[in-house]
Amino acid sequence: LAERLRPGDVAVDATVGNGNDTLVLARLVSPGGRVYGFDIQEAALAKASDMISRHGLLDVVTLIHRGHETMCEYFTEKVDAIVFNLGYLPGGDHNITTNPATTVRALENGLGLLNPGGVICIVVYTGHQGGKEEQRQLEAYLGGLDKKEFCVGKLDFLNRGSAPFLIIIEKKATLEGWQ
Ligand SMILES: C[S@@+](CC[C@H](N)C(=O)[O-])C[C@H]1O[C@@H](n2cnc3c(N)ncnc32)[C@H](O)[C@@H]1O
Repeated sequence: LAERLRPGDVAVDATVGNGNDTLVLARLVSPGGRVYGFDIQEAALAKASDMISRHGLLDVVTLIHRGHETMCEYFTEKVDAIVFNLGYLPGGDHNITTNPATTVRALENGLGLLNPGGVICIVVYTGHQGGKEEQRQLEAYLGGLDKKEFCVGKLDFLNRGSAPFLIIIEKKATLEGWQ
């Protein structure tokens, strides 16, 4: 993301939680850019808002207390990056997790909002209940994307048990030059 995002760009944090990823995105698109952040937990958004404010970047960020599957309702701009950090909120209620159906719906929306050359990064955790099913549905959906339009890769650890892994989706900048 640091290689791709530039001041003035638009990014989405689909799972704000404690706001760490939102802050990274806000730094990368400042000045002049915007970050839209979604979470279903109001208390998490309040905490994230305080933290981002302490870093002087709250004016760059719009925090929205809704599920990421509704992202199309909240802005009309095309976006340059979207980040998903799935699972439950560290330090929060472990029973409140992302859900495969809404995650896939958010991705469908997000892919439509992405600028050519834009990226979606998804950190996937499989250790909690429902995590493996989320991985299955996510990989089934992303594995079916048109390779002429999207490049979908996976970065996994070979020596770290049930560590999270990363999925990166790039919307091709042009159709020429790709296999
Ligand atoms: C692993 S945490 C995110 C961590 C966060 N990126 C950070 O830096 O702290 C996952 C978050 O996703 C949120 N979440 C679950 N379902 C969601 C949905 N449908 N839309 C948006 N956020 C959701 C949870 O409330 C939780 O805060």
